[in-house]
Amino acid sequence: MYKLAFIGGSINSIAGYPHFIASQMDKRFKVVAGVFSRDKKVNQETATRWNVKRIYDNWQELIEKEQKNIDAIVILTPTPQHAEILIELLKRKIPTICEKPLVSSTEEIRMIEKVYNPKENFLVLTNNYSGYPMLRELQHKIKKGELGNILHIRLKMPQESFLRPPKSVKYPQKWRLKDGFIPMISLDLGSHLHHIAFFLLQEEPSKVLASYDSFSKYGVVDDVNMLLNYKSGIKGNVWLSKAALGNRNGLHIEVYGSKASAIWHQENPEKLVFSYSTGQKIIIDRGSDVEMLPNKLYNRMTPGHPAGFIEGFANLYNDIANSLDLFLQREKYISKYVYDFEHAKKGITLLHMASYSNKEQTWKSLSE
Ligand SMILES: NC(=O)c1ccc[n+]([C@@H]2O[C@H](COP(=O)([O-])OP(=O)(O)OC[C@H]3O[C@@H](n4cnc5c(N)ncnc54)[C@H](O)[C@@H]3O)[C@@H](O)[C@H]2O)c1
Repeated sequence: MYKLAFIGGSINSIAGYPHFIASQMDKRFKVVAGVFSRDKKVNQETATRWNVKRIYDNWQELIEKEQKNIDAIVILTPTPQHAEILIELLKRKIPTICEKPLVSSTEEIRMIEKVYNPKENFLVLTNNYSGYPMLRELQHKIKKGELGNILHIRLKMPQESFLRPPKSVKYPQKWRLKDGFIPMISLDLGSHLHHIAFFLLQEEPSKVLASYDSFSKYGVVDDVNMLLNYKSGIKGNVWLSKAALGNRNGLHIEVYGSKASAIWHQENPEKLVFSYSTGQKIIIDRGSDVEMLPNKLYNRMTPGHPAGFIEGFANLYNDIANSLDLFLQREKYISKYVYDFEHAKKGITLLHMASYSNKEQTWKSLSE
């Protein structure tokens, strides 16, 4: 079992608890140390609640004292703080699991590039949505050509959180109300959709046209529309919003091919709906009598007993553990489910060029 330390991710955070459960669900990792919060009391409360014995007052001290004791560190701080921590971890060659987005800007990407060595650094992102079995199934079916040639893809992630914040957490946090050249909503949500689009199509967009809006009282960008063009001819359409009442987390994917289309909605994550050129519609789930990707993790419990977000996250943590096995044997560790710096860089580049497009109201090329 690999030993983990968390930086950030206290009981008061959004991402911390899902990581704590998902990383340990299948006993591939154990959280043994952390600096979960800058607030001493919250840090201590988190350690007590989670029975983590070794806690520190700041991340620099944690790294200094723990680097020989742990196998990897998970970065769960607010996005604007990722770069500084990452650079230190990369310099020290400590295997790093980082929440998405990796960093906030192309400037920070360049700073990371100065210290990142793909042969010596283990650096992976928690792009958790592709941990859902049905999205993996869809990737497989697209690859096998079951949908025919892909014509267009529609991805949306509308949320109501700036008009009607979730009651279970303090939202929005201060850091989410500060836009850089890439607005925070794109870093928060656009990074997920960039990942999912690539995961399904295995192709990066070549051009982007974007338009940003601000509807809520916060005065930051809270609604983003993007059109994407792909070299293969595929067209893409992306909508992100934090000002869309009725949507708790409306992650929704539609892929349209010449032979069939597929629709997946996160609030019903175990079902994948196909519509064929014959007019037939088929809904598949883990219990269907169709060829499905074999993986015992997808059946922690038999079909009909719903699995969801945390299980999908745990699937990814299993894949990350497999990647860490390979890295420690000095083998190539990136797999079809685990993504690294290059993927994150492409995502940040897309979001950066989308900001130029919004500013100049023209299409922007993404080719380097
Ligand atoms: N994959 C997902 O579905 C998902 C969901 C939510 C957030 N995220 C990502 O996770 C990261 C954190 O987001 P969040 O919503 O949990 O933020 P948050 O503000 O709710 O929590 C951040 C946590 O980090 C702690 N922290 C801040 N600075 C610190 C420091 N210097 N040292 C130690 N701890 C520190 C805070 O006390 C808090 O516990 C972001 O990068 C975000 O994009 C991902």
